[in-house]
Amino acid sequence: MCGIVGYVGHKDAESVLTVGLQKLEYRGYDSAGIALLLPSGIIVRKKAGKIRELISSLEEDPLPKSTIGIAHTRWATHGGVCDVNAHPHVSQDGLFAVVHNGIIDNFSALKEVLEEEGYEFRSETDTEVISNLLERNYKLLGDLKGAVLKTVRELKGSFALAVLFREDDDLVIGVRKDSPLVVGLGEGENIIASDPVAILPHTKRVVYMEDEEVVFVRRNSVDFYDFEGNPIQKEVKILDYNEEDAEKGPYPHFMLKEIYEQPRVLAVNLDMYVRDNRPVLLKDLNLRRLLLNRSRVVIEAAGTSYHAGLVGKYLLETYAGVPVEVEYSSEFSHRRLVADSKTLVVAISQSGETADTIDGLRHAKKHGLDVLAIVNRPESTIARESDYVIYTNAGIEVGVASTKAYIAQVQVLTLLALELAHVKGLITDDELEYMISHMKSLPRIVEKVLSLDAHVEHIAGKIFRSTNAMFLGRGINYPTALEGALKLKEVSYMHAIGYAAGEMKHGPLALVDDNLPVIVVNPKSSVYELTVSSTHEVASRGGRVISVITEGDRRMAEISEYKIHIPDVPEIFTPIVSIVPLQLLAYYVAILRGVDPDKPRNLAKSVTVR
Ligand code: F6R
Repeated sequence: MCGIVGYVGHKDAESVLTVGLQKLEYRGYDSAGIALLLPSGIIVRKKAGKIRELISSLEEDPLPKSTIGIAHTRWATHGGVCDVNAHPHVSQDGLFAVVHNGIIDNFSALKEVLEEEGYEFRSETDTEVISNLLERNYKLLGDLKGAVLKTVRELKGSFALAVLFREDDDLVIGVRKDSPLVVGLGEGENIIASDPVAILPHTKRVVYMEDEEVVFVRRNSVDFYDFEGNPIQKEVKILDYNEEDAEKGPYPHFMLKEIYEQPRVLAVNLDMYVRDNRPVLLKDLNLRRLLLNRSRVVIEAAGTSYHAGLVGKYLLETYAGVPVEVEYSSEFSHRRLVADSKTLVVAISQSGETADTIDGLRHAKKHGLDVLAIVNRPESTIARESDYVIYTNAGIEVGVASTKAYIAQVQVLTLLALELAHVKGLITDDELEYMISHMKSLPRIVEKVLSLDAHVEHIAGKIFRSTNAMFLGRGINYPTALEGALKLKEVSYMHAIGYAAGEMKHGPLALVDDNLPVIVVNPKSSVYELTVSSTHEVASRGGRVISVITEGDRRMAEISEYKIHIPDVPEIFTPIVSIVPLQLLAYYVAILRGVDPDKPRNLAKSVTVR
């Protein structure tokens, strides 16, 4: 949801900022812009369209060199997608330039006041209010720090800001409230960005800003303040990412690279969370205290993470005997919460910055409930605000469509359910060890499924012209069907819908005709027979069945036009194995339809708006 970056140092700022923007492009890509500070004042170049458009414009018509600037890649909230609405936004008299990630809720009221005072607005954005307010307050107070603090206190909403001030060529100002901002500390240079990936090429030493903090970043100093202006001491952390994690390497797209990273992600989590065929998550007494003796778990999450939560419900109920409800964060956080202290809230998120999920977490905390987070990104807001965090260790996920993070979430939930079941005496030592020994073969099994790549691409070639697709699954693979449908629709724009297979006969069966690809996820499981019956209902009405089934399954093969065979694994692991061909299917359908799967229209990776 918009990426911002600011730099002051000794390098060519344009190059640092445009590289930074490319790393942040996953956060939004409908327009981009850059502002540099020159002796003559602030100069801005901005363009609707992807960052490529901005870079081409800078190549054709270069800006003068500078070592200080700010930049932005936009996911539009207020105002249409056009050059004028792109950031940065410069104040009326050119004193300040601002880039902004977030939404200013009271921008209309502030705009009215500023207009009454004679300010004229060029764009339809909420952000232009910030630059003009800064200018107005600076002229009023004659003091920069005072003007910045007054301005941020007047703003309501969520905002991460990077600001240039025309009168100081050794200063970029950063502000954080409810939108992420990280400061990277270099030698004679410092950088601020929405995500450490934009900082990684320059330094691994970072400071994560908290809400209601301001930073004055200079070439050789960095000073943090709260919104009252009190100085704050911050802890310096070392990033443990590699730069290659944020590069495509030999793959044409991040989505494909990340699908192919899944065996490694599974292996990393086995390494982290398993010793001698036993999960060790609950060896931590804090987590054990959080999980034991709960009469109810409520999982709150969005999108793909919500689907992982649905698998989690199945796992925790079936194996650990805990009643679980799964809620969309956007629904959970704005409703009366009926729960007692025996309810544990679990927030699942790849980014740890999804605004809806943060709201859900805060809603739970406000009611005195404990929150366990299952999060991929360390130091994210959700990780920091929860009572306990289990990291999913998938590494940086850049592709807008979540793939490896999903598999990691499901794997962690599986480990948790099995370990909890064991601690509660619901499964024996032998049963636990048997399961974990199977889990250890998952990296190899997923590797094998990836070798079906060309076969899945061939199937994609048969369906990519369809306008609709349906995904069916039952039991533990009902969420797999939902996730398969989400992947397909978001990256290829083909309308796709996931149903619980048993629900077909209650309505959706009417949609089936000989044009409709129906992707049935039916590996060997306790609901196999029932799903075979549902598949017959589809096949006998002419539906084109594409099935994800266990190797050697002749019965499903007979009623399927195309088959994707996955290795035989215990039912509990089928969501991990059967989602992989569906991710590949979505990827190849997108490619065949000419869509860039890393940057589907209207979407952004980290959804920091409500
Ligand atoms: C879909 C996708 C989104 C995210 C959702 C939640 O492929 O990536 O649906 O899953 O926006 O994001 P996180 O997990 O970062 O909270």
